Amino acid sequence: MISSLNLSGVQPYVSSEEIRRAIDANAGVLNRMLSGEAIGPADRGWFSPHRWQTDPLVDQIEALAEKIRAEAEVFVLVGIGGSNRGAQSVIESLGDGKVEILYAGDNVSSHALQKTLAQLGSRPVYVNVIAKDFNTLEPGIVFRVLRQHLESTLGEAARERIIVTGSQGDGQLHAFSQAYGCTYLPFPDDIGGRFSVISPVGLLPIAVAGVDIRPIIAGAAAAEQELKAWALETNPAVMYAAARNLLYEKGFLIENLVVMEPSLFYFARWWTQLYGETEGKNQRCIFPTASTYSEDLHAIGQYIQEGKRMVMETFLAARFPHPEQSIQPSAAADGFEYLDHKAYDDLNTAVYQAAVSAHAQDGVPCFQIEGGEVSPQLFGELFYFFMLSCCLSATLIGVNPFGQPGVEAYKRNMYRILEKPVKEPGL
Ligand code: PA5
Repeated sequence: MISSLNLSGVQPYVSSEEIRRAIDANAGVLNRMLSGEAIGPADRGWFSPHRWQTDPLVDQIEALAEKIRAEAEVFVLVGIGGSNRGAQSVIESLGDGKVEILYAGDNVSSHALQKTLAQLGSRPVYVNVIAKDFNTLEPGIVFRVLRQHLESTLGEAARERIIVTGSQGDGQLHAFSQAYGCTYLPFPDDIGGRFSVISPVGLLPIAVAGVDIRPIIAGAAAAEQELKAWALETNPAVMYAAARNLLYEKGFLIENLVVMEPSLFYFARWWTQLYGETEGKNQRCIFPTASTYSEDLHAIGQYIQEGKRMVMETFLAARFPHPEQSIQPSAAADGFEYLDHKAYDDLNTAVYQAAVSAHAQDGVPCFQIEGGEVSPQLFGELFYFFMLSCCLSATLIGVNPFGQPGVEAYKRNMYRILEKPVKEPGL
């Protein structure tokens, strides 16, 4: 792997010996997850990303993305949760901006919808609606509005500008695409939303944004190969899972994922969804949140330094280096002369080191994931590392990593308020 897990900032709070003992005590369940034995066929699709390296669907996705890039000024990704966060995390960091990518269907704000329609105007556009279960209200209804917008501007040709990524079966997007006559891509049956970034769900939008999807797949495949073969006690995915739960038992109830590049905040949002929906099921689980430093050092950083000792942090040391950018002396004295001639990147390194040491020495356990330069390969690797480690962590706290039954509670109320007809069983 190109990244590595550094535990020096957590060792004052949880020793290597404690981590080893926790791993030994749970070796059976951890091995079953690491070998895939504990994952049922309905959820196993994300576990072996190497298979995409030879899947002809990836060639088809690349060809489709190339056509969209040649024809469109705007691409609207309509989806929510696992259907958009993975792609958004890569696009916002690595996209080339040739095609403007808009996100819709993740809220029901009429104001946001108006804004999206105004941004589209009469510009050449493609719409990609992504839904594993085409019953989710937010993307479903926004897709209808965008379809109507395309139909009113393009007429019959609207269908050529729509791509649906969804499941097969009654009432699902495959049936819709056949009736409507637009392009269909499969949302694999055996992959849940938040595990779907390395599949047509994430790969098409990422490719439309001009990012090479092959190294993303290769990065995930490399992580898969290494992590599956690694001995349990030194396996970083296992150690991270074990250590964070030992810290939870010691009162560290919140985990803050820290990124040092503003655009990586979208990766952090993918991460918070992954952990929140995977583990948040038994009232005895870590609350995942995220911060971007330096900005959040001047906000929530105060609480982390001196607030209640219930926060642990995971620093993602991954950056876009620009060694050519150095600080030039100023003719007007401004008090920053001590920075003259330094590389600009040294400032970010200094903030990183300063925050890790200030927090780790003062009551906040700090994991560090050292990833180096941000690249498509690193994204692939991090996606796989966190998906695997998150499932291992869920196993340790005794919850099923897959599904998100708690989300149904708000949906039930919303459907009642909106008077959605209830389907009789068997109809
Ligand atoms: O991770 C998940 O499975 C969820 O976040 C889903 O992706 C989200 O609820 C959207 O579901 P759907 O794609 O069915 O609209």
